[in-house]
Amino acid sequence: MFAGALPTDADLLLAAAWLHDVGYAPELAATGFHPLDGARHLEEIGAPARLVGLVAHHSAAAAEAGVLGLDVELQEFENEKTLVRDLLWLSDMTTGPTGQPMTFVERMAELRERYPADHYVVRSLEAGMPMRQQAVDRAQGWINRVGALAQV
Ligand SMILES: [Fe+2]
Repeated sequence: MFAGALPTDADLLLAAAWLHDVGYAPELAATGFHPLDGARHLEEIGAPARLVGLVAHHSAAAAEAGVLGLDVELQEFENEKTLVRDLLWLSDMTTGPTGQPMTFVERMAELRERYPADHYVVRSLEAGMPMRQQAVDRAQGWINRVGALAQV
């Protein structure tokens, strides 16, 4: 994990990494859209606003919200454009469903294979691809600059 190389916000990144999919918990599934359900739950229990926003918008959730007609609801939460966000997205999009490392390209292919073609994840995948790719590129560029991978 490269959070240790962050001068600030390492705790925030770790918390977001642990919690970004909390909305999958059945008892939290109010809308069935896990970034929104997770963010609403975290907000209800008093989590910091930045953590809530990172969960709400993780991994191009805005593209999925658009397909689901939940974009207004998701926009209640701030979508910060920071290194922390990019590193969270990179982590999510280079890790498989059982925690196995994979490349971004492999992860996108894995999503297409795992979900039915009419699922919102697949239907929104291309719309969110530029956002995802840019976040991955920025995060990877930062990692390369700080040499964090050598520390893992
Ligand atoms: Fe997720």
